[in-house]
Amino acid sequence: MKNRYSFGGDEHLFVECDENMSLEAFFKSLSMTNAVRDSGIAGVTEICPANPSFQIKFDPDVINGERQTSTRDPMTPLLAVLRDEFLLTGAKAVCREGICGACTVHLDGQPVVSCQVPIETIEGRDVCTVESLAPAGEPSPLQQIMGTR
Ligand code: FES
Repeated sequence: MKNRYSFGGDEHLFVECDENMSLEAFFKSLSMTNAVRDSGIAGVTEICPANPSFQIKFDPDVINGERQTSTRDPMTPLLAVLRDEFLLTGAKAVCREGICGACTVHLDGQPVVSCQVPIETIEGRDVCTVESLAPAGEPSPLQQIMGTR
């Protein structure tokens, strides 16, 4: 059986490795949960292996792997909060009308123009900016390759 993935609310990921309990399903669940634990993914708060499934609890309020909150007006554009409050200036403010794309970030893995996204719409969602490519200040492997070409 292929793994089946489902979400429980916006904080739990449930993975079914098999329909029946077995030693093979138990070790599959155990090895997958160990890999998740070893990878140290930011936002993962609990990993619960079982037989023949496992559950992962995560914090949905993360930006580049860290939980962030803002007390600004709910209609404030995400771009303004990223740049002015969190000092993430990789997304640029150019047209501010949703035309140029200079302010693009990923919201739940999908590109959006952040100048057009009010912060009231992103609660509990994952925001990823270009700064996430170099989380420790070191260029990512992709940036290293691009820098040598
Ligand atoms: S600043 Fe141009 S699309 Fe957002």
